[in-house]
Amino acid sequence: MTAQELREKYLKFFESKGHTIIPSASLVPRETDASVLFTTAGMHPLVPYLLGEEHPGGKRVANVQKCVRTGDIDDVGDNRHLTFFEMMGNWSFGDYFKKEAIEWSFEFLTDPKWLGLDKNRLYVTVFKGEGNIPRDETAIEIWKEVFTKSGMDVAVAGEDEIIKDNVRIIPLGTDDNFWIAGATGPCGGDTEMFYDTRPEEGVVEGKFSDLVDSFRLIEIWNDVFMEFEKKADGSVEKLSQQNVDTGMGVERTLAVLNGKENVFETELFQPIFVKIEELSGKKYDDYKKEFRIIADHIKAATFMIADGVTPLNVGRGYVLRRLIRRAIRYAYSIDLKEGGFSWGLSRVVIEMYGNFYTGLKEKENDIRAVLFEEEEKFRQTLENGLRELDKAIEEYRIRWEDSEVFGGFKVMPGNIVFKLFSTYGFPIELIKEIADEKKIFIDEEGFKGEFKKHQDLSRTASAGAFKGGLQGTGEMETKYHTATHLLLAALREILGPETYQKGSNITAERMRFDFNYPAKLTPEQLKQIEDLVNQKIQENIPVEMREMPKDEALKSVKVSFDPSRYPDVVKVYSIGDFSVEVCGGPHIQNTGELGSFRITKEEASSAGVRRIKAILE
Ligand code: ALA
Repeated sequence: MTAQELREKYLKFFESKGHTIIPSASLVPRETDASVLFTTAGMHPLVPYLLGEEHPGGKRVANVQKCVRTGDIDDVGDNRHLTFFEMMGNWSFGDYFKKEAIEWSFEFLTDPKWLGLDKNRLYVTVFKGEGNIPRDETAIEIWKEVFTKSGMDVAVAGEDEIIKDNVRIIPLGTDDNFWIAGATGPCGGDTEMFYDTRPEEGVVEGKFSDLVDSFRLIEIWNDVFMEFEKKADGSVEKLSQQNVDTGMGVERTLAVLNGKENVFETELFQPIFVKIEELSGKKYDDYKKEFRIIADHIKAATFMIADGVTPLNVGRGYVLRRLIRRAIRYAYSIDLKEGGFSWGLSRVVIEMYGNFYTGLKEKENDIRAVLFEEEEKFRQTLENGLRELDKAIEEYRIRWEDSEVFGGFKVMPGNIVFKLFSTYGFPIELIKEIADEKKIFIDEEGFKGEFKKHQDLSRTASAGAFKGGLQGTGEMETKYHTATHLLLAALREILGPETYQKGSNITAERMRFDFNYPAKLTPEQLKQIEDLVNQKIQENIPVEMREMPKDEALKSVKVSFDPSRYPDVVKVYSIGDFSVEVCGGPHIQNTGELGSFRITKEEASSAGVRRIKAILE
C-alpha cells in the first residue's frame, strides 16, 4: 500500500462514519498557543474545540496532520526517531466516546475492505488507573466484546504485564496510557494498539514492555479519551465534554502494512535515500545513520519553510537553521559536498508529498531560495570550522597528555571553543555534537568566561548561542551535572552496585544518562529512583570536592571509565555518603538548589544499555 492510499483510506473510512474531513493545519501553531514552537500532534490546532468551542465542521472531524517533534533530535539516526511525521486522527468533540472509537479502530485495522491487518497479531493496552482516576473498565469491556464478536476469546493481563495464552489486553499506568501534550491542557487515559511484526518467531509471549523494546510489538494507533484538563497548578479537572483524539502514525503504519522492518524502509524515505546515493556515491547500507539524519532533517526543513518559517538565530527559526545545518554537516561527513544538494533532496520531498500537501508546490520558490542561501552561508563556516575543530582537537590531545582531564573525559578548553564560535561562526551545538562523537567534553564554563570577556558580541548572537540566555544555560547545565551524580548513586541503590555510567549528555533543558542494565526498568523502579533522587535533593546535602592522588582515589571510588584516562591528581566530588565520584566538575554547592527531579523517558540505548532522560523543574 502506498502512503497516499493509506491516507485516502483512513479519511474515507471516517467520512463513512459521519466525519468531516479537514486539511492539515500549519506546522506553526496558532498565535494564541504559546505552549509549543511547532505542531507536535494533531491535537494542538484543535484544542479550542476539545475545550468546548464549536468546530465549523461539526462534532466529528478527521484529518492527516503534519507534525514536528524536535525534543529527541539527537536520537534521529537510530531506527525509529523522526522529527517530521504525519499523524492521522479522528476526533469527537463531545460526541461519540470509547465505544465507537474502539469499534471503528478495530474495524479499520482488520476489515479486508480497509487495512485488512490480521486480528490475531493485534494487542492493545488500556489505562490501569492511577491517582484519583480508576482503571478503564469500560475500554476493557469494549475491547473484550470487539474481540469476542470477531471470534476471538481474549483475556486481560495481570499486574505482571505478561502476555501468555490468550492475553490481548494489557492495562498499563500513567507513563504509557495517559496522554497529554506537554505540561498542561486537555488530557485523558488512552488505549493503544500494537501489531506483532515478527509472527515468524512463533507465539507472542513475555513481558509486554520487553516485546515492545525488541520491536516485535509496534504501536500503530492511540485512541485518547480526553475528558480532563490539567491546570498550571497541577490539578486535574473534568472537561465540560468527553472527547476522542486519536493518532495513527502514517510512517509506522505504512511500514507494518508493507512488512518493512522500520519506517526508513518505506516509500516515505527510499526516494530520498536514492537521491543521496546518487549525489554522494555512498550506499545507504553503509551509512544508515547519516542518510537517515539528512533525509529526516531536509524533509522537516522543507515543510517548515513551506509553512513560513525562516532561518533565524532564535526560536522557531533557530530550530529550522539547526536542522539545515545538521543535515549539511552530516552530508559533509559522507562526502556529499555538492553545492545545492539540500535543494536537490528537497525537490524529491516536494515530489513525494506535493500532491497531498499542496502548499509545498506553491512555496517551491521560497523553499529553494531559503535552502540555497542557508547552505551557501553555512558551507564556508563549516569548512573553516571543521578544519579549526580538527586542529583544536589535535592541540587538545597534546594538552591531555599533560593531564588536561575532566572527570575521565577529555576536555576542550573554553578559549578554543570560543575561538571556533566567534572567529569561525561555528554554532555551539555543532561544536558540542562533534566533540561528543569524539568523546570530548567542551569546557562550557570556560567558554562562558571567555564570552563574558567579549561583551561586544551582539545580543542576537548570544541569544542564538544559548536559548535560555547565557547565564541561565550555564547554571542549568551545572545543576544537571550534579543531578547525574545523584541519579547514578540512586541507580546503584535500586538496581545494584554494578551499575556504571555509559554516557551522558546535558543541555540547558534536560539530561540524558546511559547506564548498563539488562532489562527495561519497571514503572516501580523508575519511581523508586526518582523518589530517591528527590529525597536527596530535599535533604539539602552539601556537595564537597577534594583533590587527591589518583591511586588513593581509586581505592575507594568506583569509576565508570578507564582509569588510565585520569590524571595523577583527581578531583573527588562527594554528596554526603550517598555519592562519591571522580569528576572534573563543575557542580552546584548544595543538592537543595536542584528543585525537583523528574524522569521523562526510559528506553533502550544499545544492547545492555538503558537510557534515562530527566528534567529538573
Ligand atoms: N494525541 C495522541 C498522540 O499524539 C493521539 O498520541
